[in-house]
Amino acid sequence: MKNLFRLFLLTLLSASFIVACSDDEKTTTEPEVTEFVATYSDFAGYRDWDKIAENSGQDPALGLDAHGNAMTKRVIYTKNKDVKMENGEWPVGTILVKDMFSLETNELTGVMAMVKRGADFNPDHKGWEWFELNDADKSITGRDANLMDGMCNQCHGGASSDYSFTLINE
Ligand code: HEC
Repeated sequence: MKNLFRLFLLTLLSASFIVACSDDEKTTTEPEVTEFVATYSDFAGYRDWDKIAENSGQDPALGLDAHGNAMTKRVIYTKNKDVKMENGEWPVGTILVKDMFSLETNELTGVMAMVKRGADFNPDHKGWEWFELNDADKSITGRDANLMDGMCNQCHGGASSDYSFTLINE
């Protein structure tokens, strides 16, 4: 009987020890509210990423002249097309880049990107940051929550997949 009681105490003790340990672990690995602030190096080499679309000509969702009227070809890339949504949102750090070419000359006419920056950035539009990139000198020429007077937010807000028209899985 005495032994049984001792065993019971021991079990209780080790159980509380384990609980204490896992509690510790929880507090140290608790994810912080992360923010992804892109620099040009985060876009470098995007043409080697996953190509998720190549569209030419008019798309009713583009309106008449938002990046790409009937005379453009759009090629869209993301780092990992198998990335999964979490609670209806692409994870912080998700990057989408779009090359635009003239259909007449095949010349690159512009590069745009959207990055899930997260934290408290652009809170009314799910934390997206909008970009214009310069391919020739590999630089960021524009970035903002309200780039193009908020047009990026407005139009992409109508996309089915957390502000992306193209990145869709499951
Ligand atoms: C009038 C609507 C409209 C506006 C304004 C607009 N976009 Fe788009 N965007 C689209 C559509 C539609 C697509 C997908 C179809 C395509 O490009 O062929 C797209 C695709 C993209 C993509 C590829 C990822 C995706 O959504 O699938 C990026 C990056 C992008 N847009 C950036 C921008 C940025 C940056 C701005 C503002 C400077 C902007 N867009 C403004 C309609 C719009």
